[in-house]
This record gives sequence, structure tokens and C-alpha cells, in this order.
Amino acid sequence: MTYTIGLQASTVGTGHAHGKTILVGEHTVVYGLPAIAIPLSGLTVDAVARAGVDSAVSGRPTMPRVLDREHFQYRFTCGHDDSAAGAEFGPAIAVRAALHRWRIDHGSVEVSVGSSIPPARGLGSSAALAAAAVRAVANLLAEPLEDRALFELVQCGEQVAHGRASGVDTATVIALEPVWFEADKAHPIMPGLDAALVLADSGIAGNTRQAVEVARGVLGRRRADARQLLATAAAITERAATALKAGQAATLGYWMAEFHALLQKLGVSTAELDRLVTAAQRAGAHGAKLTGGGLGGCVLALTEPESAAAVAGALTDAGAQQTWTVPIRSRLP
Ligand code: MEV
Repeated sequence: MTYTIGLQASTVGTGHAHGKTILVGEHTVVYGLPAIAIPLSGLTVDAVARAGVDSAVSGRPTMPRVLDREHFQYRFTCGHDDSAAGAEFGPAIAVRAALHRWRIDHGSVEVSVGSSIPPARGLGSSAALAAAAVRAVANLLAEPLEDRALFELVQCGEQVAHGRASGVDTATVIALEPVWFEADKAHPIMPGLDAALVLADSGIAGNTRQAVEVARGVLGRRRADARQLLATAAAITERAATALKAGQAATLGYWMAEFHALLQKLGVSTAELDRLVTAAQRAGAHGAKLTGGGLGGCVLALTEPESAAAVAGALTDAGAQQTWTVPIRSRLP
């Protein structure tokens, strides 16, 4: 049995998702090791889906278009079999996979997405765009959408965007609580501390796909050290989780800084990111590191709530283009 999108042009579906930041564990999570990530509910993505104007006939897809770079507005049309359209654009790939899953084999959907997440900054933009878009299409078609099905659909796009995507971004852009992510599964992790995370944008676009390749190259060339490096990454992440749950901010910051050193060894930091990390530590942060894929993008600093403004100021003075301060609040298990 197959279906056509037989909806009135006035019918719309809506979907929402948010950004993410990785506390520890990026890159090594690609190899099945754990990572800890925090949803950024203040960086939002909203999508609206409509039946394409041509949906009574056959899908006539358009390439994804960026409508307004400054405000991160995107629009694309997707049919289930238009493999050429948006071949590199994760959200279009995810929507196409959704249409296939729901056996829509005629017609197309038009998706408009507005985002406050700067792209290519390690803040989960590609996963959040895809999650909001798929949710909007599910809402349009009145298809039930469990989180696991959404995860799998978004991952179809992320595998292309990252080359090899662990799923930590996808899990966190749809999560409501901090996430312990390991071997394809997300579990909530409850912080036992009240602190602030200061994110600083280096202003330089990162490239996750390229960064994943760089890290893989380093691990491949230094096989003797690779096993040790991965074991160290797993141990740091375990200790960071213990400190997060126990409310030990200084210890958590220490492990974040250690993880930055490990990411430097993997070849994914840059002089600009290192400069921002040093500026945050000098201004009183408990610890700082690059967050996300690296080779550009953002730095993440852990501070006491009352030091956040000073750390954000120091990051701006050191060249950050933009900063965001996000509270971490203790939660009872
Ligand atoms: C990117 O936010 C995180 C990486 O570990 C890639 C991934 O896990 O898919 C670099």
C-alpha cells in the first residue's frame, strides 16, 4: 500500500528542536565511547511543513535554499525519490527518509525552517534542523513519531553531514535533560551542581566531516597510542560524569581541560580555539575546551554563576564573536 500527500495547501505541520553542546567526549564518541552533552533550549529551530504545490502530480523537488543567512532561514522541497535534490543537505535527506518510511511515493512537501543556531559552530545546527523538519512533516501527515524513529531518521542526514555520526548530536537536540550517550543510546544524567556554561563562538566555521577524518587519520597513524588515547578519553568522561552528578564544579572543569588536551592530540583544535580556552581559564573558569567537531566553531567554559559575565567578557576580549551563557541547575535523581 502506498500513499500520496493529499492535503489542502492551507494545512501545515510544525516541528521544533534545539541546539546542543558537548561537555566531554566528542570525537571519541564516534568509536562507541561515552560522551556527555547538554541540550541548549535557548537556541531553537522551528519548522513548518506544507504539501508541495505539485503534490497532486509527481514530486518536483528543489535544491535547499538559504533564504536569509543572517537569521538562518532555509526552505526546501522534498519528494521521496528525489535523490539528487539536497544530496548533501542532512535535513532534506532526513525528510526524504521519513517520506519513504511513511510510504509517501507521490507528491512532495515544502519545508521552511527558521533557526537561531549558527551553522558550522559545533552547536548541533544540522541535527536540530533535521529534527524540527521531520517533526513538522510528521505533524503535517498526522504520523505518530516516537523519539527512537525520529533519531533514526535524523541520523540518515547526519551520517552524510559528519561522514560518521555517533548520534550524540541527534539524541541531544531532542532531549530535555543532559545526556549520557554511549554506543548509540542516550540516558539522562542529572547534574548535582548549580553552575554556568559560557559558550564562545570563534567566528570561524568548523567542518565536522573534515574534523572526524582528521581525528581518524591521527588514530590510524599512531596505532600504538590510539588504544591508550581512547582508554584515557573513556576514563575522563567517566570521571567528569561522577563530578557532574556529585556537584564538584572544580573537578568537572579539570576533566574538561584534560579533554581539550586530548582533542589537541587528535588534531582538531586550532590556535584560535586554544587562545579562547586560555582566556577563559585565566578569567576564572573551572575549565574550558573546544566543543563539537572543532577546526573552528565554539569553546565551552564551566564557571561559577557569578563569574560567568567576567569569563564571557574575557572571551570577547580574546576575539570571540558571540557568547552565550547557559545555566546548569542541580536536579534530584
Ligand atoms: C560533533 O558534534 C560530535 C562528533 O563527535 C561527531 C559525532 O559524534 O557524530 C565530532
